[in-house]
Amino acid sequence: MPAFGVPTLEDLPPVKGARVLLRADFNVPLHEGRITDDLRIRAALPTITWLQERGATVVAATHLGRPKGAPDPRYSVTPVRERLAELAPGVELLENLRFHPGETSNDPAFVAELITGFDAYVNDAFGASHRSHASIVGPPQHLPSAAGRLLEREVEVLGGLREHPNRPFVAVLGGSKVSDKLKVIESLLSVADEVLIGGGMCFTFLKALGHPIGASLCEDDMVDACRALLDGGAAIRLPSDVTALGPGGKIGDPSVGGEVRQMGTSLPDGWMGLDIGPGTSAEFSDAVLDARTVFWNGPMGVFEDPRFEAGTRTLAEAVAESTAFTVVGGGDSAAAVAQFGLADRIDHISTGGGASLELLEHGDLPGLAALRGSKPGAT
Ligand code: 3PG
Ligand code: MG
Repeated sequence: MPAFGVPTLEDLPPVKGARVLLRADFNVPLHEGRITDDLRIRAALPTITWLQERGATVVAATHLGRPKGAPDPRYSVTPVRERLAELAPGVELLENLRFHPGETSNDPAFVAELITGFDAYVNDAFGASHRSHASIVGPPQHLPSAAGRLLEREVEVLGGLREHPNRPFVAVLGGSKVSDKLKVIESLLSVADEVLIGGGMCFTFLKALGHPIGASLCEDDMVDACRALLDGGAAIRLPSDVTALGPGGKIGDPSVGGEVRQMGTSLPDGWMGLDIGPGTSAEFSDAVLDARTVFWNGPMGVFEDPRFEAGTRTLAEAVAESTAFTVVGGGDSAAAVAQFGLADRIDHISTGGGASLELLEHGDLPGLAALRGSKPGAT
């Protein structure tokens, strides 16, 4: 058994001739019914190959999007099934687990239905292992169970960041919501040497410092919590300049007009900060280049709009360039790295957004705990 005490594929009873239920996280981004990034499907291949080479029949299951517990054609797994058939012939894929209300409510009756006809269970759904859903926490109570290769690697890397990072350890957080990330910021502050904050959520911090933030994103009910962190002397670095869109402009649509300007961190009325500025990009890049461990989650700006991609691009290039051990977590930052063609220059791109943050925050996940308590391999 590896670190975290979670059984791995080697701990399963012989799988020759066995039917194995593989919980994967094939919650891939789709645009007009087509998969725009199949990373999460490819990431499950080592586990699938391991099982197939040993004579197992693999049946995979995933959620896709957030349907409301009933079939919804918009969230059908058909595109995933087609891609999976190309990448891993012979693997069956069940329909979206979240078409059943028992999945998110962790209904024992749904677990019973799910495991019927299976001899073993493998969880390779790192990205969903922070959810106490039926397919994640249920099967290990009934079947010999193990973590797949992807889950194993994710836990090794992200757990390692918590436990023995090379220093300096710099964490860079972006994205829009402080409320989603405040807890993880707090726990990162206890392991990282410095936490750099960009993205939409930096404006709630800037407001806490008393800066006028114009029409920028702000979570007013989080201002006090941000101020408390900053007053406590936390090793947080905030932007010193931003790129903002003036009144009348529209995100994603330059044709509407609206002036784009670089400015300090005091924004006039009606101006919306949508990216970190060039000065901040340079400062953040320097910190990343000087670090020996880097964790990055969340874009620095609205990088889908070319007018506001510079901060995220510059940071992504610094992360790629850095000699540090670099970990990128989260759908949006992973997508950014892929969009800029830098993916193969990152040491580890996590397939989990929320899951990677929760693992960093708590040092454990419901899916791991379930595997740890699973039915012994020898039956
Ligand atoms: C993700 O994309 O973050 C995971 O697949 C989990 O999805 P969820 O946030 O809808 O549970
Ligand atoms: Mg999510």
